[in-house]
Amino acid sequence: MEIVIVPDAATGGELIARAIAELLTDKPDALLGVATGSTPLPVYRALKSRVEAGTLDASRARICQLDEYVGLPEGHPESYRAVVLREVVEPLGLTEASFLGPDGAAADIAAACAAYDRALAEAGGVDLQLLGIGTDGHIGFNEPCSSLASRTRIKTLTHQTREDNARFFDNLDEVPHHVITQGIGTILEARHLVLLATGEAKAEAVALAVEGPVAAVVPASALQLHPHATVVVDEAAASRLRLAGYFRETYAAKPAWQSI
Ligand code: GLP
Repeated sequence: MEIVIVPDAATGGELIARAIAELLTDKPDALLGVATGSTPLPVYRALKSRVEAGTLDASRARICQLDEYVGLPEGHPESYRAVVLREVVEPLGLTEASFLGPDGAAADIAAACAAYDRALAEAGGVDLQLLGIGTDGHIGFNEPCSSLASRTRIKTLTHQTREDNARFFDNLDEVPHHVITQGIGTILEARHLVLLATGEAKAEAVALAVEGPVAAVVPASALQLHPHATVVVDEAAASRLRLAGYFRETYAAKPAWQSI
C-alpha cells in the first residue's frame, strides 16, 4: 500500500486526476468507480479542468457507482445516482449511457444487488476505484464489522454515518437507514484502489486503516489486502500516522516515471 501525504485537498485531487488521466490514455474506455461525499470533489474538479483544457479525452470513459441509498424517491437530488450524474458524468461531458449503478428504488433489493455485481463483472471489472473513508472507517457504505468478503448488498447505516451525512438533507430524519453498497470483496476486485482522505476528522480512521491490523471493525483496513492500493491524505488526515516520516521519504524518492 502506498501512502502519499499531500499539502492540501486540491493537490490530492490533482494527483489522483493525473492517475485517472494516465489510465484513460492507456485505456480510453476504462471503468472508473467513483465515490460520493465532499472528499472526492477536488478530483472531479481537476478532471473537468483537464477535459475543458483539451488535455484529457474522457469521452469513452465509463463511470460506476460505489453505493446508494435505499428508499429515496426516484430522481431525489441526494440519491447517489443523481450526485454522480451531477458531479462526475455531466461535467466530463458523458451521458447516462456510460454510467452503471445499483437500483436503490428496486422492489427486490437483493436481486438489484446481485444484478449490480453481475453488471460490474460483465463490464470487465472496475479499473480504478476512488474511495473516501467514513469517520468510523467505512468504505462505500460498508460499516464496521462488514465481512471482508462481502458482495454488493443492503446495509444499515450507523447513527454516526447518518449524522455525518445529514448535512446533505433537511434534517437527520430524512437520511435513509438503509443503503446498497458494493461489498468489501467487490471493492477489492477493482484493479487499483485509490482512497482520498482530507481533514482532521478522518485522522483516526486513516491511522487505524493504514497502520492498524486488518480487521472488519475498520473496513478500510481491507485495503491492506489489495496489491495496488494508494492512500492519498492531506496533512490533517495524516496527523496520526506513526510512519508519516517514512511515507514522506518514500514518496519524495519515488522515480519520476512511476505514477501512483
Ligand atoms: C459516505 C459515502 C462514502 C464516503 C463517506 C465520506 O458515507 N458512502 O463513500 O467516503 O460518505 O464522505 P465525505 O467525503 O463527505 O467525508
